[in-house]
Amino acid sequence: MTEATTVGFCGIELAHPIINGSGTFDAIAARRVFGDELLERFPFAAFVTKTVTVEPRAGNPPPRLWELPAGLLNSIGLPNRGLAGFLEHDLPVLAELPVPLIVNVMGFTRDQVATLVAAFAERDEVAALELNVSCPNVETGMLMGADPRETAALVERVRPLTAKPLIVKLTPNAADVPAVARAAQEAGADAVSLINTLRGMALEPASGEPALGGITGGVSGPAVRAIALAQVHAVAAAVSIGVVGMGGVQRGRDAADLMAAGADLVAVGTESFRDPMAGLRVATELVALPVSGAGAVV
Ligand SMILES: Cc1cc2nc3c(=O)[nH]c(=O)nc-3n(C[C@H](O)[C@H](O)[C@H](O)COP(=O)(O)O)c2cc1C
Repeated sequence: MTEATTVGFCGIELAHPIINGSGTFDAIAARRVFGDELLERFPFAAFVTKTVTVEPRAGNPPPRLWELPAGLLNSIGLPNRGLAGFLEHDLPVLAELPVPLIVNVMGFTRDQVATLVAAFAERDEVAALELNVSCPNVETGMLMGADPRETAALVERVRPLTAKPLIVKLTPNAADVPAVARAAQEAGADAVSLINTLRGMALEPASGEPALGGITGGVSGPAVRAIALAQVHAVAAAVSIGVVGMGGVQRGRDAADLMAAGADLVAVGTESFRDPMAGLRVATELVALPVSGAGAVV
């Protein structure tokens, strides 16, 4: 990579524009497997953690994954150690990564999200926060990210709690995603990221029963690439804050397309399960693209 590919995002300097999608690269497990080699050739310009919740979560019953003709259906259910466990066990290891750390958080009430944001606001190891709004607010019964007013109320609640950049990870399962993105911007978000997985379902061919323990799951991978492109294009036209585009990125060409649609950074998700070094490969391919792709990078 050359100097020319350095990108600024929400005041953070990144070596290139490729990061990971939350929950699709376990940096702690990868460090165990690859050792310090992982730190020398880290595949992403920033690392986004899996979603952290206030309380520990075991996740959904198995089966949790189902392969689709052009993608993946997952119903992992956000297993994580919870805030205290993350701070004690995960954060010290993730702080050793050679790239800025973005912590992804989710709560079932605005107060829970506020607790998480306030806790990470104090941690120097954390460069930015990503709010996963693809979950129901148990107090209002609404998906936090499905409605502009609901999203605005959440961002307004947590904005005063931190000076760190706040990235709102939009849900594609909303009637008007650009309206939600605008509401997030007006309430003080520094960036939006999209797309999260789309709700889907599969049946076991033999039994006709749901294939996943969680019944429904989230669709990701190449199957969602065209949807991601359309949503990133619409959202980038609607906001003036940063945009992280993701959904089905496998090659530099896919990343260049999302950037041409208006993304400032691109995240690699499902592809990292097939190739743990996919992030670095996509970044390298992006730089090597002729004019339009390379132009989009700088
Ligand atoms: C197995 C799996 C786990 C995921 N876990 C999370 C998560 O914890 N938090 C989150 O915000 N998004 C999560 N995502 C969504 C991804 O970050 C990304 O938005 C989505 O998969 C689209 O990108 P892709 O098609 O490149 O995978 C997960 C996706 C997958 C496939």
